[in-house]
Amino acid sequence: MDSKALIVTAITLIGLAGCARQGDGRLKVGFAQIGSESGWRAAETNMAKSAAQKRGVDLSVSDAQQRQENEIRAIKAFIAQRVDGILLAPVVSTGWDSVLEEAKAAKIPVILLDRQIQTDSPDLYLSSVAADSVHEGQIAGDWLVRKAAGKPCDVLELQGTIGSSVAIDRKKGFDAAIAKSPNVRIVRTQSGDFTRSKAKEVMESFIKAQQGKPICAVFAHNDDMMIGAIQALDEAGLKPGRSVLTVSIDGVPDLFKAMVDGKANATVELTPDMAGPALDLLIAYRKTGKAPPKWIKTESRLYEPDTAQAEYDRRKAIY
Ligand code: AHR
Repeated sequence: MDSKALIVTAITLIGLAGCARQGDGRLKVGFAQIGSESGWRAAETNMAKSAAQKRGVDLSVSDAQQRQENEIRAIKAFIAQRVDGILLAPVVSTGWDSVLEEAKAAKIPVILLDRQIQTDSPDLYLSSVAADSVHEGQIAGDWLVRKAAGKPCDVLELQGTIGSSVAIDRKKGFDAAIAKSPNVRIVRTQSGDFTRSKAKEVMESFIKAQQGKPICAVFAHNDDMMIGAIQALDEAGLKPGRSVLTVSIDGVPDLFKAMVDGKANATVELTPDMAGPALDLLIAYRKTGKAPPKWIKTESRLYEPDTAQAEYDRRKAIY
């Protein structure tokens, strides 16, 4: 084969390789998911799969079991597979620059889901679909200040995963909301890692440490931790939802069930449908090349027992 023929063959092969990536016309997307630490997270994964199916996208989901190194490994694998886009739910907020540089060099757009990252180079990701977590914490804090109505109120706080943007920001928002009311103060705070089992253990140790001192309220950074806390409070003969006020974040069916049973008082909704809007952004971006807004903010709404039965029925069907 002469050199001209060789060049033509090489160009043809390169072209075919490019086509092979989307040979069936379907977009290939990798989703670096945190794990399945909460009911909310499991719902997000399920909704991502059905959102992809509806849009004719091939979605490959990796479960990092709440470890950043597993998420980084998954992203590298997606890059090696030459996917058309990557969805990333970042377990913690720092330490992403290097792997995102690799995605950028491979021209693979990355969209963050439900948590944010800290970086000096925001061009390392295309967009993010997430709630304003400071605002979520603020809604929870404002609710408690109203409920405490000026009376002394000692609060136990269950924080989310240490170093995650949601734990940092929910705390920031809650602290700011109660700062104007010196009667409401956090007397104990610890991470329950967004899981029921860890939160239950932490709440048991909180109850012991209180030595019978009154517990006015529990603020949990997610509903699953609140369910664990409710179990611990129940077992200790305390009355969550009655003598102990509860407020948490997510809006999962189990928390609405707890409200129906009179064991919980309030939750701030976080929609688990994050991947649908993210895939729409990605599809539009690949079509037009126009960069979407950097942050698609999802709504945060407070729910109380008055609508709990209806919300429980509705959510059971979609979770
Ligand atoms: O990032 C969203 C949070 O992560 C949810 O509130 C929590 O349930 C999940 O684990």
